[in-house]
Amino acid sequence: MKTIIEPFRIKSVEPIYFTTKEERKAILEKAFYNPFRIHAKDVLIDLLTDSGTSAMSSNQWAGIMQGDESYAGSSSFFRFEESVKKITGMPLVIPTHQGRAAEKIIFTILGGKGKYFISNTLFDTTRANIEFSGAEGIDLVCEEGKHPTIPALFKGNMDVEALKKTILKLGATNIPMVIMTITNNSGGGQPVSMRNIKEASQVCKENKIPFFIDACRFAENSYFIKLRENGYANKSVLEIANETFSYADGCTMSAKKDAFANIGGFLAMRDLDLAIRCRNLLIITEGFTTYGGLAGRDLEAIAVGLQEILDEHYLQYRIRSIEYLTNKLIAAGVPVMQPAGGHAVYLDAKEFLPDIPVDQYPGQALVGALYEHGGIRGVEIGSLMFGKYDTDGKLIPAQLELVRLAIPRRVYTQSHIDYVSEVIIEVFNKRNEIKGLTIIEETPMLRHFTAKLKPII
Ligand code: F0G
Repeated sequence: MKTIIEPFRIKSVEPIYFTTKEERKAILEKAFYNPFRIHAKDVLIDLLTDSGTSAMSSNQWAGIMQGDESYAGSSSFFRFEESVKKITGMPLVIPTHQGRAAEKIIFTILGGKGKYFISNTLFDTTRANIEFSGAEGIDLVCEEGKHPTIPALFKGNMDVEALKKTILKLGATNIPMVIMTITNNSGGGQPVSMRNIKEASQVCKENKIPFFIDACRFAENSYFIKLRENGYANKSVLEIANETFSYADGCTMSAKKDAFANIGGFLAMRDLDLAIRCRNLLIITEGFTTYGGLAGRDLEAIAVGLQEILDEHYLQYRIRSIEYLTNKLIAAGVPVMQPAGGHAVYLDAKEFLPDIPVDQYPGQALVGALYEHGGIRGVEIGSLMFGKYDTDGKLIPAQLELVRLAIPRRVYTQSHIDYVSEVIIEVFNKRNEIKGLTIIEETPMLRHFTAKLKPII
């Protein structure tokens, strides 16, 4: 088989800026060892997120020029709505300015004290929105998902037996929703199988609990199903996506991922009463129901992006490029989440830095080392992001200590990725020099965005 190539050519480019290791050392110190505090121009290869960082296509830019900025009933809204309906089959589509705005609306309405939201794994903003409403979030990822370096086909799955037990224990009336995150971002960008989606949905139906999908990366998940699940090899990604959503009562979506948009999101659902309540809240927070916090041009970019993401040449290249980097790292003995996920490579910081205890944040220490050595910006998905304190102020660590290197869509070429692997391997070979970190300032919620840290000398 020949090399799988980028299925596009480049029409417009943006320079990246080089810094020396000495400069980066000073920048890191000034940023209190927190990548969110580093200025983007000081980053060489930015793998902080795949969210909102896609390169838009010429057709999306053409759509931007056609944006209808009418306050009510803009044609851009109807093109957007049609695109969303074609994929989700959901009759009620509500635009929002990004994914978390959709979350804020739905959890404000359904959340509150004494309520529980169950998921395979909630993303950080999803969990924060649930907790902010007074409710609790519960992650029930399958056993395979808890072992980063042991490969399995669908490590993003929910443990359906645990779901049944949890419903029995907490009572179905206290669970306003079960949310399946596809792909499972915080669990390593790992896919969820159709079978698992169907089974979880069935359990919810039996218990009269609405089943929602956090659909940010629905196309990557659909392509994994095509590659890995029996019976799907000859189905199109659109057919697989349609079946996925057919099991759900609704979804939240960040268009900043699998819609190639730089901003945007939506809520879609089947229940009219719920949609009316969501729309009322939308109007006082986001905007009128046909723009929801977005400009008409953004709705156009999303409408086009949602069509483009279904291109199987693109998805083949996308999944392959993540696998390419993962395989290079595996060959060099670097501990990574296996198999490769859909949008990112996840380094296993616990194994990478076995001498740094979890309360010294090995993931964050590794993020710092990658920046210092090669100007690469990644993000910790571990105890800095998800850790909590017990009543004695002792850290309750996260299940996994990962470093995510998320690959923006259509942005970097193979030589950028080769460079990234060289830097990671260099850092791996010098891992004994890396020091743990301690927090010197933090907020009670979503602390990883703003926390200040310093090395333990
Ligand atoms: N759900 C998942 C699974 C996500 O990955 C994200 C965002 C959101 C919801 C929220 O969407 O950013 O549009 O408000 N993830 C980004 C990331 C930020 O880096 O993984 P948003």
